[in-house]
Amino acid sequence: MEIHKNYSLKDYNTFGIDAKAKFFVEITTVEDLQCILGDTRYPHKFILGGGSNMLITKDIDALVIHIDMRGIFIENEDDSYAEIRVMAGENWHGMVLWTLERNFGGLENMSLIPGNTGTAPIQNIGAYGVELKDVFVSCEAVRRADQKLVHFTKEECQFGYRDSFFKNEGKDEYVITSVTLKLTKKNHVLNTNYGAINEELARNNITDPGIVDVSNAVINIRNSKLPNPKELGNSGSFFKNPIISKEVFEDFIAKNPEAPFYKVSEEEFKIPAGWLIEQSGFKGKRFGDAGVHSKQALVLVNYGNASGNEILNLAHKIIEEVQYKFGITIQPEVNLIK
Ligand code: EPU
Repeated sequence: MEIHKNYSLKDYNTFGIDAKAKFFVEITTVEDLQCILGDTRYPHKFILGGGSNMLITKDIDALVIHIDMRGIFIENEDDSYAEIRVMAGENWHGMVLWTLERNFGGLENMSLIPGNTGTAPIQNIGAYGVELKDVFVSCEAVRRADQKLVHFTKEECQFGYRDSFFKNEGKDEYVITSVTLKLTKKNHVLNTNYGAINEELARNNITDPGIVDVSNAVINIRNSKLPNPKELGNSGSFFKNPIISKEVFEDFIAKNPEAPFYKVSEEEFKIPAGWLIEQSGFKGKRFGDAGVHSKQALVLVNYGNASGNEILNLAHKIIEEVQYKFGITIQPEVNLIK
């Protein structure tokens, strides 16, 4: 394990923020992870996965541990299902393509989500009507305090909308090392109802889609709306879609009858933050090198040399304006490293 000093993190976060780590180490095995977590020469440690859901606003005065364990293993299978165990450092989309090549179904709607598999459970990633929890079986994680390997069932992960145990009670206490998923080998259950998927399939004259067709449709939709982090720094949705009470919703929808919304339950409604931000006049706006994406207002972008604080200031401006205009508080979805 080579420890680097004053190491630039620009290539390790999809926002492309040029912050430095005081110390930096790449970890490729669970044993090395346990060893470095127990190393008392570095009292402050910071875990870095794919860097796709974070905004770094200052240099990190710690040992940054980059999780790079690889491997995808078929643990169990019968005629109908396959259970695969994926090591935390595997790129999410690369893993989705691996499953599609083998005709394993369940991940096609979550194609092209940036980031690594090990961080997927933390915020229960999701897209186009499917969330990680729909295919999740369990995960393994090293407890930072005693370096023991702990097994988590799906229930123990307490998944919610962009939320889990690892964002709440378990925050900063575990490092996920592998994730086990249950996928279909036949009778795939397709979810094509969400938004533009059916339209995209129809546009390509696909009447009897398979999982690869759905994946390709999702890839096309994402490419048309979401910027490629390799070309334009970003972290996907910067904000969560706010969930409001029925009472607040009734007042809101009376004043904004054209607003899109999803009913979460009898008592709760979700409003697309992208719509609120667009209506507040921010879509496509640029302030120095920080901006709001022109095709999806939920995404903040770095045009080149924006600092983390410039992006954060823009986020605050947006939060204030949406609050002023609609009386609704939107919250960041990305982890703010302050
Ligand atoms: N909308 C606007 N203006 C915009 C963006 C959206 O009016 O600039 C409206 C759309 O017209 C639509 C509604 O908002 O009526 C929803 O838009 P979209 O289908 O693009 O989805 P979203 O709610 O904005 C969520 C996820 C995305 C995920 C998509 C598709 C969150 C925070 N975001 O976005 O996830 O890809 O649904 O499932 O839940 C991510 O987490 O990084 C991410 C990209």
